[in-house]
Amino acid sequence: MFKMGIIGWGGMGHFHEKLVREKIARMDVKGVYDINPEKNESIIRHGLVAYETADALLQDPEIDLVLLSVPNNFHKEYAIRALKAGKHVLCEKPVMMNSEELEEVLAVAEETGKIFTVHQNRRWDRDYLIVKDIYDKGTIGKPFFIESRVQGARGIPGDWRCTKVAGGGMMLDWGVHLIDQLLFMIDSPVVEVYAQVLNLKYEEVDDNFKLMMKFENGINALIEIGTHHFTTLPRWYINCDGGSMTIQDWASGADVVKELDTEMDWEMGIVYTAAGPTRTMAARPKDSTEEFHIDIAPEKSNHQLHEMLVDAMESGDYSKVAVKPNEARRSMKIMEAAFKSSAEGIVIKDRI
Ligand SMILES: NC(=O)c1ccc[n+]([C@@H]2O[C@H](COP(=O)([O-])OP(=O)(O)OC[C@H]3O[C@@H](n4cnc5c(N)ncnc54)[C@H](O)[C@@H]3O)[C@@H](O)[C@H]2O)c1
Repeated sequence: MFKMGIIGWGGMGHFHEKLVREKIARMDVKGVYDINPEKNESIIRHGLVAYETADALLQDPEIDLVLLSVPNNFHKEYAIRALKAGKHVLCEKPVMMNSEELEEVLAVAEETGKIFTVHQNRRWDRDYLIVKDIYDKGTIGKPFFIESRVQGARGIPGDWRCTKVAGGGMMLDWGVHLIDQLLFMIDSPVVEVYAQVLNLKYEEVDDNFKLMMKFENGINALIEIGTHHFTTLPRWYINCDGGSMTIQDWASGADVVKELDTEMDWEMGIVYTAAGPTRTMAARPKDSTEEFHIDIAPEKSNHQLHEMLVDAMESGDYSKVAVKPNEARRSMKIMEAAFKSSAEGIVIKDRI
């Protein structure tokens, strides 16, 4: 039985504790360290050891794996300390504040021979799994534009997420999830990045952005995250050479229109539409397409990432972890390119 120690008893500390204890037969949680001693009562109430210091947790020989669920600016320090104490590390996203920090941590993981992986749990989102399945099977051909959006209207919660020093802002918070989803799905380097990143309501951190990525294989993707949208666009809008697909919301499922006829018998002359006289923008004849809906899978607790981590620890084959070091590295580099693009008003050309 593997034992997890948790650093940071906030929202995500609780999330992992519940998931591991309820779902992961080969892993248990032994205890927690939180910098705020007022949390100890709750830790003890959960039947866990409340460590007085981070070192006490890191020096506990029973702990195999340390979960880092602290604000982003503490990920690096604790990751290095945990790896050097001989523990495997599961780090919350965003993996680090920047890629220099990540390289330092990956070097220590290499040196110590321990696992360092990241909780990119949105690879199991039900809406995303539909998109990935359609993409992998080529059901409606190859995408030329993918649009992935998450839009809120309440601003950023007024805690560490609003501060630069703690790594707040929407790029590192939600951006990293949506970027990871696309990089995991599209097996091709990103060759161009262009972004507009706004500090609309917060001086220190970004709260709204649009990010364009061009992949070497010709696919283009737009990621938009915002916290000031009072009407919203669909979660996904995807255009492929053989059809289009819309996913309105997290639980709506997908509406797909698939092209049947590639050889259209175009009418000659002007067509009168609500848009005025236009043949180009007139609707497609109904018999040239097929329309279908894909239901969302039933909601269930997703714990594959934790199971894969246990498999990796058990077998010693670290390639079994869900999120590999290079995947974390690529997301970090895309976010850095996006900030640079926005600050300098340029397209970043690279091969990420
Ligand atoms: N994967 C996801 O879907 C997801 C969702 C939310 C948050 N997160 C990530 O999880 C991490 C934690 O977020 P949260 O929402 O749980 O935050 P939170 O504010 O709810 O909890 C953070 C906890 O860490 C403690 N803490 C702060 N500094 C500390 C330090 N130096 N040492 C020890 N404890 C310290 C705080 O007292 C608090 O209990 C962040 O990196 C965040 O980006 C991931």
